[in-house]
Amino acid sequence: MSVITKQNYRGAYHFSPQEMWMNDPNGLVYFEGEYHLFFQHHPDGMTMGEMHWGHAVSRDLVAWEELPIALVPDELGMIFSGSAVVDWKNTTGFFEDKPGLVAIFTHHLNMPEGQPAIQCQSLAYSKDNGRTWTKYAGNPVLRHETFIDFRDPKVFWDKEQSRWVMIVACGQTVCLYHSPDLIRWTFASEFGGGIGSHDGVWECPDLFPLAVDGDKDNIKWVMLVSIGADLAFEEGSRTQYFTGCFDGAVFTPDEESRSIRWLDYGRDNYAGVSWSDLPEEDGRRLFIGWMSNWMYADQTPAEGFRGAMTIPRELALESRNGVVTLIQKPARELEAVRIPVLSLTNASVQEVNAACASLQLDAYVIEAEFARGTSAGFRVKAGAKQQTVVGINGQTEEMYVDRSASGKIDFHKLFPGLHSAKLTAQAATYDLCIYVDRSSVEVFGNGGQAVLTDLIFPEPESGALTAFVELEEDLFLSLKIYDLVSSAAS
Ligand code: FRU
Repeated sequence: MSVITKQNYRGAYHFSPQEMWMNDPNGLVYFEGEYHLFFQHHPDGMTMGEMHWGHAVSRDLVAWEELPIALVPDELGMIFSGSAVVDWKNTTGFFEDKPGLVAIFTHHLNMPEGQPAIQCQSLAYSKDNGRTWTKYAGNPVLRHETFIDFRDPKVFWDKEQSRWVMIVACGQTVCLYHSPDLIRWTFASEFGGGIGSHDGVWECPDLFPLAVDGDKDNIKWVMLVSIGADLAFEEGSRTQYFTGCFDGAVFTPDEESRSIRWLDYGRDNYAGVSWSDLPEEDGRRLFIGWMSNWMYADQTPAEGFRGAMTIPRELALESRNGVVTLIQKPARELEAVRIPVLSLTNASVQEVNAACASLQLDAYVIEAEFARGTSAGFRVKAGAKQQTVVGINGQTEEMYVDRSASGKIDFHKLFPGLHSAKLTAQAATYDLCIYVDRSSVEVFGNGGQAVLTDLIFPEPESGALTAFVELEEDLFLSLKIYDLVSSAAS
């Protein structure tokens, strides 16, 4: 297999494993200048199988270095999803002279035919910045008598109560536990009955505080819950979020969380969680998701490796028309390495297309602003017979990605299609920020109020970028294009 063929679908600025299968991000933690990204990994296959934790690190969230596998299956089972924290106070007693990392993960044991798998929570620790790991001798540290689906622990330090909190998926709810030392856990509460989407099993929860509109005196808690694909739903696997209060034991949802709210309206942002232990002065909540969907994840075109993460994103809460909304924006580190290649204002579609014709772009970012009511957009990764359309529909006030002719689409009947998200009216203009890579588009509308993340599998020769408008007189109020490939590829 030639390297070129193998690299066809490898993003220029998205993390994907050197080889074989990857799904969820795991153990996201920042420690001593490194962002750790562990991930669900099957090193011997191109589909899910004997799951391990792969490992990569980055100092800038742009260039990732893949390191040797961190956690391998053992007699308690495979290593499913989970989180990692810095045990600053050595509450576990695992460390001597300096703080280290603790991974809290699900052990999944396949049982003989006819008996359900067993899932329980276990620990491993590292004294050398995640390079080598020791499993805790007393594993597992948490079991459940009734839930068969009991997995994906996300742990954080609760400053108010001086104890650890774990949120973990239990069937179609989440449970909260607390612990003084990550070893002894006490049940605190259960959340999820009668609220939110129950279209599938609940997985990969997260819980964290954010300041509304940046106001430190107005803190709300955000809960993320991913929902496994049930083939009855054409969207497949998706992530919902709730906002509310958390008192150290119980999460109480806000009124607006009574209706279902999705993190992303594309098809390919699943099992995403946030980084732990960012320095307080950083103040951000950074997120990354697995850019695929269980509906077709093991059938996507692939050679040599399969699976990619979204770009790292910054999460924030903003009041939009009186509703506190979760906002996602590309991590500013990515913005810092973009190379400007085009900047136009009040341009007609002819002017835009004339300027775009001379651009040779592979992985890039488009930022565009339109007057409200405009129907316009871009055809990206376009060739003679294919295109991915990203645009705004001024009548319905939606942004959309249409990947029905985006390249290879026939590997699953529900892959082709048009996905859209409502844009909340805020001002007289709408803006789109589109991250295009070799096999994905990520669209952030209205400053991150609406997000669409979609995989695409274009033929390599289809690189054209063109713009369109519905009415000749409609203008691109502002258009900026940046090259990302040469700066970010490592
Ligand atoms: C989510 C998930 C998790 C599980 C892992 C197994 O995508 O199903 O619930 O821990 O993947 O790889």
